[in-house]
Formats: sequence, structure tokens, C-alpha cells
Amino acid sequence: MSTLLQLESVGVSIGTVALLEGISLSVERGQILGLVGESGSGKSLTALAAMGLLPLIGGRITTGQVRFDGQDMAAMTEAQRRALRGRRIGFVTQNPMTALDPVQRIGAQVDIVSRLHLGLSWQAARARTLDLLTQMRIPEPAAVAEAYPHQLSGGMKQRIVIAMALAGDPDLIIADEPTTALDVTVQAQIIQILGQIVRERGAALLLITHDMGVVAQICDRVAVLYAGRLAEEGPVGPIFAAPAHPYTRALIGCIPQEGMAKGSLRGIPGAVPSALAMPSGCRFNPRCPHASAICCETAPSFAPFGAGGVACHHAGVAS
Ligand SMILES: Nc1ncnc2c1ncn2[C@@H]1O[C@H](COP(=O)(O)OP(=O)(O)OP(=O)(O)O)[C@@H](O)[C@H]1O
Ligand code: SF4
Ligand SMILES: [Mg+2]
Repeated sequence: MSTLLQLESVGVSIGTVALLEGISLSVERGQILGLVGESGSGKSLTALAAMGLLPLIGGRITTGQVRFDGQDMAAMTEAQRRALRGRRIGFVTQNPMTALDPVQRIGAQVDIVSRLHLGLSWQAARARTLDLLTQMRIPEPAAVAEAYPHQLSGGMKQRIVIAMALAGDPDLIIADEPTTALDVTVQAQIIQILGQIVRERGAALLLITHDMGVVAQICDRVAVLYAGRLAEEGPVGPIFAAPAHPYTRALIGCIPQEGMAKGSLRGIPGAVPSALAMPSGCRFNPRCPHASAICCETAPSFAPFGAGGVACHHAGVAS
């Protein structure tokens, strides 16, 4: 198996505020890694760090390394990183509705990606566009290619945005909450299709979501972030069977079960602390049912556990 993306002990700051610490994860070819955590836990910052895009928001990597296909991204020139993002890394943003140009037909917007990155002729690019729309299960692809974005539903537009991310034939796709604006059934369908295409192509997917149900459905591994630190990482099967970190356990407990009355979704009491007022010791301690004295004094380090790793003084307790 080859590792496409690897983050090793990455720390990120914006100005003087440290927002991510010690983030280590890797995405293998042919695999899907789910990156989960509540709002504000640092998922989007991790994605920006992975793409070398932190300068866009005034951020920087302060410690550790990001490697793409074995190459240290910090050692590349900005032109090399830009070429990598266009050609080998496809990105689906958290706000995909803004990714489409309202005054250009759909087909032209998808064509241009493979024209630019694969050097295809207009005819070959259009054939590829129609093929991608078909793969995204878009009915009547030729008619949709002639349409303008406002003529399509939210779910259709989202499929187009994913087709655009796939058009340059990337090795790695980073999808930041690609379906949050859509209704749950449409979300599930689109994520399934995306996962299937990624596997068929032997590409890799870093899928950012706050939904553990989605992770259970399509991911191979999962990385759980809490307040800018990695809480747990490992293969999906063992983690869902026996989560070692109390936060992972709580997130899994929030997945609505079949037969559960609507509205009975259990949230996790409390909220993610702000970067300017982090609790000392383990950042989860104010919300953790297993917190002890050491949890309030010393931050647990991330250590191997089972087939993955966990950062908790009482890893595996009550799992
Ligand atoms: N441009 C910025 N300037 C200052 N702080 C920021 C900036 N972007 C993010 N942060 C802070 O970094 C932390 C992590 O943010 P991030 O956007 O990565 O969270 P997230 O996990 O993607 O959340 P969500 O699920 O809401 O998208 C938050 O505390 C946020 O306030
Ligand atoms: S280190 Fe302590 S407070 Fe933190 S998650 Fe583990 S048991 Fe809970
Ligand atoms: Mg985000």
C-alpha cells in the first residue's frame, strides 16, 4: 500500500494563537480516511495544512511535516504546490455552492478542468465531462451540461462540484463536509457514489465530516479531532466496536439508531473550548465522565493503541 498524504506531528498557528497541535495521520491509495470532530475542532484547518493553503487565511505550520507521495511540501516552491493542487489533489469545499460560476454552462465549467490539467482537446474534454456526470449518476448528462447552475437542484449542483474535483484525475481528493447543505438521503447517496469512484480509481479520499454514521458507512480509517488535537485514530471496524477514547465513544453514541424517535438524538453536553481558553491537562476533561486528577493536570500524549492510537490517560476505560 502506498501512502499518498502524511501529516506528522503537525502544529498550526494563526498569528500567535496555536490552533492545531501534534496532528499525525496518513491517507493510503485506494482508501478513505474520515476526519471527524465537532464544529471548531480543527478539521478545515487540517485540510488547509494538507494542501499548503494556510497562508490564504494568515496561518502557518509551526511544527512537523506534511508529505505528499513522499515529498515534503515545505521543501516545494509555491509553483510546485500549486501544480500539485490542481493536478494531483482535488478539493471539494465546505461551501460548494460558491464553487460554480452562475453565468457559465455546467459543461464548460467541468471541461475546463481536464483541458487545463490533462491537456485534453475540447472534444475529448467534453467526452470526459459526460462520462464523469454519468459516473456521478446524473440523469441526462448531455442536457445537464447545457444547463446553468440555477436550473439545477442543490443535490445536482453538488454532484457537479464533485465531478469537477474528479475531472483532473487527482490521486487524492479532500472533501470538506461536501454534503452538509443537502437533505440526509441525498447526502448518503452522494457520499456513497464518491466513495465508490475513489475506490474504483485507486485514488484516496480524506473525507471531513461531523457525522460518525457516514464514517461507519464508507471509511476505512477514522481520525477523531478534539479542540485542535488528535483524540483517536485507527481502523473503523475496531474503533466502532470498542472506541478507546471517551470522546470517540460519545460521538458514536450520537449516531441516530434505527427505530429511535425523531428528535431523540443525544448530543454531547458542553461545547468545544475556544483556542483562547483551553482547559489545562486533557482538553476534554470538563466534559469527560472519566476525568481524574491527572486529566486536569497533564495533557495525555498520543500513543499506539490496538491497530491505531489514542490520547487518553484512561484509554479503553469502560469501552
Ligand atoms: N481564519 C481564522 N482565524 C482565526 N481563527 C480561526 C480561523 N479559522 C479557524 N479558526 C479557529 O480554528 C479552530 C478550528 O477551526 P476549523 O475551521 O478548522 O474547525 P472545523 O472543525 O472545520 O469546524 P466546522 O465543523 O465548523 O467546519 C476554531 O477554533 C476556529 O475558531
Ligand atoms: S485523559 Fe482523562 S479527561 Fe481526557 S479523555 Fe481521557 S479520561 Fe477523559
Ligand atoms: Mg470546517
